[in-house]
Amino acid sequence: APLTPDIFNCHMAKTPGGIKDCCPPQIGKIIHFVPPKIQQPYVRRPAAHLMNQTQIEELESGIKKLKQLDEGDPHSFLHQAKIHCAYCDYVYNQLGSITETRFGVHSNALFFPFHRAYLYFFERILRHYIGNPNFAIPFWNWDSPPGMYMPEFYNRPSSSLYDHLRDPRHDPHKLIYLNYNGKTEDHSFDVVDCNLRWMNDRMQVQSPRSFLGRVLKAGETPNPTDMGTIEQSPHNNIHDWLGTKTPHFEDMGSFYSAALDPLFYAHHANIDRLWNIWKTLDGNPKDHIDPDWLNSSFVFYDENKNAVNIKVSDCLDTEKLGYVYQEVPLPWLHMNK
Ligand code: C2O
Repeated sequence: APLTPDIFNCHMAKTPGGIKDCCPPQIGKIIHFVPPKIQQPYVRRPAAHLMNQTQIEELESGIKKLKQLDEGDPHSFLHQAKIHCAYCDYVYNQLGSITETRFGVHSNALFFPFHRAYLYFFERILRHYIGNPNFAIPFWNWDSPPGMYMPEFYNRPSSSLYDHLRDPRHDPHKLIYLNYNGKTEDHSFDVVDCNLRWMNDRMQVQSPRSFLGRVLKAGETPNPTDMGTIEQSPHNNIHDWLGTKTPHFEDMGSFYSAALDPLFYAHHANIDRLWNIWKTLDGNPKDHIDPDWLNSSFVFYDENKNAVNIKVSDCLDTEKLGYVYQEVPLPWLHMNK
């Protein structure tokens, strides 16, 4: 059976930082997702370059507005971050589960579609507050040399995009090592070259099981061995690279707090983009076709504060959701390990 979170039945989150309340504000009725009418798709651009000053300022002003909203408002930045906590720190049961099995979106094939839908609604909300009908969130293009450091405009202390809990050792322009192990800072090897080879290795996998992760069946809980290649590394490593300053790895290195860092959304936009790219690589089969995966679903707030249920099958094609990624070079493609 497909997995659906029982969102009317929310538990406290047990996190490395203690017990946290990541439950949503009261939800009335849940409506079903209807794909948007698309005239011209929004274009998500790389954060490190190719974003102009106006686009940076719009992003800053949008995040600032969400940060100023009341905590109980589902659009508030705090609440948006709690959505990640809720789905990642197991606050919901799987709907219909008599054994109280919890719903989780990491370490299984819900990883890509959950984060896609999460960013999609976050972007709609931001666009609503920014008021530019063409606004799109940026992606942190860490798979290419110009993107292999923290985008500078996220690191200005007066900006709404700043997070003081990031590891200061990794401020711009420290080169990121995509397979970072939490310790290594000084490298005796060519980090860029190593990153590119690693990217190719992670992307050139044939089966949906290898890339997307294993399809979870109702009644099962995620297991690290069910993870897809990209989720395991570099996704996890980049979280850790930013979040090694505090004992519990806030913000980016811990599920409950990760989305409190505005850079989270740019990091995940790149993950999302890599899913699209994977589907175009020669010889790869496409997504899982298991109906249990396709009919699994999540609930998010839209810009009108409706709670919306969206299925994995609604998330497979970003053009149907109304956005595309700006095409940039893929220097890792075909680099041998
Ligand atoms: Cu839900 Cu990058 O994590």
